[in-house]
Amino acid sequence: SRADVSVKIEMDQAGPVIAPEIYGQFAEDLGRGIYDGIWVGPDSKIPNTNGYRTDVMQAIQKLHPPVIRWPGGCFADQYDWRDGIGPRDKRPKRINYTWGGVTYDNSFGTNEFMNYSEALGAEAYIAGNMGSLPPHAMQQWIEYITADGDTTLAKERRANGRDKPWKNLKYFGVGNESWGCGGNMKPEYAADLHRRYATFVWKPDEAPPITKVASGANVDDYRWTETMMKDASNMMDALSLHYYTFPGSWEDKGPATGFAEDKWASTLKHAEFMDELIRKHGAIMDKYDPKKRIGLYVDEWGTWYDQEPGSHPGFLYQQNTLRDAEVAALTLNIFHRHTDRVKMANIAQMVNVLQAMILTRGDKMLLTPTYYVFDMYQPFMGATPLKAEVNGPDYVNGDISLNMVDVSAARGKDGKLYLALVNTDPDRAAHVVTGMSGSATGRILTGPAMDTHNTFDAPNTIHPVAYRGTSDGGKLAFDLPAKSIAVVAVDQR
Ligand code: AHR
Repeated sequence: SRADVSVKIEMDQAGPVIAPEIYGQFAEDLGRGIYDGIWVGPDSKIPNTNGYRTDVMQAIQKLHPPVIRWPGGCFADQYDWRDGIGPRDKRPKRINYTWGGVTYDNSFGTNEFMNYSEALGAEAYIAGNMGSLPPHAMQQWIEYITADGDTTLAKERRANGRDKPWKNLKYFGVGNESWGCGGNMKPEYAADLHRRYATFVWKPDEAPPITKVASGANVDDYRWTETMMKDASNMMDALSLHYYTFPGSWEDKGPATGFAEDKWASTLKHAEFMDELIRKHGAIMDKYDPKKRIGLYVDEWGTWYDQEPGSHPGFLYQQNTLRDAEVAALTLNIFHRHTDRVKMANIAQMVNVLQAMILTRGDKMLLTPTYYVFDMYQPFMGATPLKAEVNGPDYVNGDISLNMVDVSAARGKDGKLYLALVNTDPDRAAHVVTGMSGSATGRILTGPAMDTHNTFDAPNTIHPVAYRGTSDGGKLAFDLPAKSIAVVAVDQR
């Protein structure tokens, strides 16, 4: 039987604008994320534009990514930017110690990343190396990208084919996961080291300002946030937070496809935990930064499963199903509720790694259910969030229960009212009645199974289709099938 749900949108309870950067991407030099996914090189048989895969680039372009984070991740703290500039055939080959121990040829470096993000109209977020290089390296890297004068580094950039500095370097990460792969530091030490390195995250006067991002907590490590804020908040503009969603635990994650309902339920429940994390880390930040000058950047989030059987160890390649789409939608809805503090988020990762937008195999490409959520949610970038009060039953599985229907509402930059409606129940449809009159049109994403997904042989199995609201006693209503995500524009009357 279908569930009856009501939703009331509080038109006069608006929050701070949804920073478009919440829709940011993360592209690490990991597995086939960069090499094969984004970059195949100009001599590849795979159709490319100056070495960038044309199919992937065009698909990413359609999402209008506001910001892309690169080169890591853990990789950032092993990376020397100097390896990735100059003639490609002269660049050193290195071992990717962090990911799979494979050799990479550095053919995708600073010029390739900055040109790519610029061509996509995205801001660049570079994660610097605080774990294994001196601060001087960060300073020189930034100068290479942003200096316009007569310096040796600016001349080197010109000799490497880029005359004018890039203007889109807006964010610079001072290390990554300093509590773990970025140096296994204690928070007191990391805060001190941040202060030291951030001193040298310096750019020429004429270059646009750079936001300094401090390496933040893992999941619920509140002591980390407390220490960083207490000791180093005057030296940062943002603090990061990393949280990955597993069906099970870190040790026993579970498969990306072919899972039972208990794993559907636990995954969505774990995704919901993001809300508590933001509230608790945010409360600590409020103590030291009551004016909310410092952004909380969830610069790594997404699902993490056992990697696809047969894929290279350490490449973190996984399939992506309707369950991932639900996680993406629920998480974006959570971010919309915390726009006072959450100013950026970067899903991990853009292509071929973890909860990817796109998967590739040879010259084939597929768009994942997560891609379609990002596509459907585009009107929320820069929109003004409105409070949505939902009343309805929970979705219950064993001892797990969560809201069956989750709604996010916002006034778009175009003045229209947008609603995102998520039905988390894999079996039960919902009838959602609003307090408004009018009509609504948009798109819906759903599928017959919890793990409905696209494959290289059947790449169009799941994609959004046209959807419209109905009317119930003169009120705008929605019939939401089980396990579905809809985004609509409302025409109020
Ligand atoms: O996204 C994969 C890895 O997860 C990143 O490199 C690291 O920062 C995190 O542990």
